[in-house]
Amino acid sequence: MKNRLSRIIKPKDGRTVMLAVDHGYFMGPTTGLEKLDEIVKPLIPYADTLMLTRGALRNYIDPTTDIPIVLRVSGGTSIIGKELLHEGIVASIEDAIRLNVSGIAFSILVGADFERDTILGLTQCIDEAERYGIPVLAVTAVGKDMAKDARYLSLASRMAAELGAHMVKTYFCKDFEKVIETCPVPIVIAGGKKQPEKDALQMAYDALQAGAVGVDMGRNIFQSSNPVGMIKAVRAIVHESATPKEALEIFNSTKQ
Ligand code: 5RP
Repeated sequence: MKNRLSRIIKPKDGRTVMLAVDHGYFMGPTTGLEKLDEIVKPLIPYADTLMLTRGALRNYIDPTTDIPIVLRVSGGTSIIGKELLHEGIVASIEDAIRLNVSGIAFSILVGADFERDTILGLTQCIDEAERYGIPVLAVTAVGKDMAKDARYLSLASRMAAELGAHMVKTYFCKDFEKVIETCPVPIVIAGGKKQPEKDALQMAYDALQAGAVGVDMGRNIFQSSNPVGMIKAVRAIVHESATPKEALEIFNSTKQ
């Protein structure tokens, strides 16, 4: 377990840049990921971990690629369905082992009518993954009409940790320290919808300052006008304690 966790969160500084490209499991050919292999390949040297589905891993990533994998194992509903994020287990632990992953990820939707299903799915995954020393990243998904505030996100994050998750992925919010302080396992932030690079870098910086161990960022990297520049800038914030201004300079000075 510790060995795998160390592949995800780098022991040198206890931080991580996770590149999230798992969106296809409920969004299909997400803007920027239509040709997943082409966009991801130049980003891999700057990512500590790649988060994706087993189908993306099999079809788009060369098996000789040297990068730890966090496998998305929850799914079951689509962006156009009636119950967004009512997810269950969509990949077995045996397949995760066969794919040689360093961790698995499962989304819970606390506060939804079907929250119980997603929470029981998470705990089943944790029980199965613990048997093989595989860490589980709980993704605190947020429904369309739900508030992304510290009260809600600390509730969902703490619940995930109490239920046995080894890491939590959540959204950045005002008073984010409260989310960090009340969660006993490492937290990474999701990037969320694409925003101007300057704002996304500021968000990553603020999250790290508040105590997050890193980012698990997708759209703000692969939908950027300069994805390599953006991941390099994010990496500088996470691993080199760069300021948002320094990171933006890295973004601007990186050739497309
Ligand atoms: C949904 C997810 C996404 O699939 C994805 O990983 C989020 O990344 P980003 O918001 O940075 O695009 O976790 O809950």
